[in-house]
Amino acid sequence: MNSRAQAWPYPRWIAHRGAGKLAPENTLAAFRVGAQHGFRMFECDAKLSADGVPFLLHDASLGRTSNAAALWAKASGSDVSAVAGEHAWSRLAQLDAGSWHSPGFAGEPLPTLANIARYCLLNGYALNIEIKPTPGTERLTGAVVAQHAARLWQGAEVPPLLSSFAPEALAAAQAAAPHLPRALLLDHLPPDWLDIALQLACVAIVCKHSLWNARTVQQARGAGFKSLSYTVNDTVEAQRLEALGTDGIITDRVDVFSSQL
Ligand code: G3P
Ligand code: MG
Repeated sequence: MNSRAQAWPYPRWIAHRGAGKLAPENTLAAFRVGAQHGFRMFECDAKLSADGVPFLLHDASLGRTSNAAALWAKASGSDVSAVAGEHAWSRLAQLDAGSWHSPGFAGEPLPTLANIARYCLLNGYALNIEIKPTPGTERLTGAVVAQHAARLWQGAEVPPLLSSFAPEALAAAQAAAPHLPRALLLDHLPPDWLDIALQLACVAIVCKHSLWNARTVQQARGAGFKSLSYTVNDTVEAQRLEALGTDGIITDRVDVFSSQL
């Protein structure tokens, strides 16, 4: 067994997109809600604005989780791109990323990675940064997110865990900041899943939870990887994953699992 994954500084429980569905995903408000429920580690999705600022957003499009369509259609007509990565940060920073969820979060901005880094570092929280490139920008996003993360967490006791479904993004992150830990995200198991993670010198594999069983956990462990799951919202499934000896669970249900932290 290799020694890459032996020093594991992260809590078992990780709040998905900040607080799952209890607050607008990938906003600082969501992180605060997750923290109020006792979570000490968070997952978020990071991509780049057109001028290279890493910020939090899950979808490539702004449509679902911001007021871009309404705001910009009024100002510039309906031909404005909905693709977040095609806009400069100065424009993205004007958006309301909270009202779509509920009125109590109206006005909540899209956060930069730097905003979230400050919040996590000042509170001693750990972060899993999922590199979520706008399609076609995998290498650039991996490199820039890793460069920013290395600078923001410089000297920190616990580094952020960088993860991605895109091996090209992880390879670019590895080249830009080789000291930051990486995890391969998988929604299915290709025949060479362990080889891909080994080539990228990952410390962990984060799988869709149903992919873990006694055999796959043993294979991952045997190759030196920690095993984490997304997105686990069911208590029976969480118990199954714990019994298998997996190492981390990403959940939307910060309310349900609050008592187990
Ligand atoms: O990082 C784990 C999980 O967030 C991956 O799926 O689509 O929710 O970003 P998604
Ligand atoms: Mg994610």
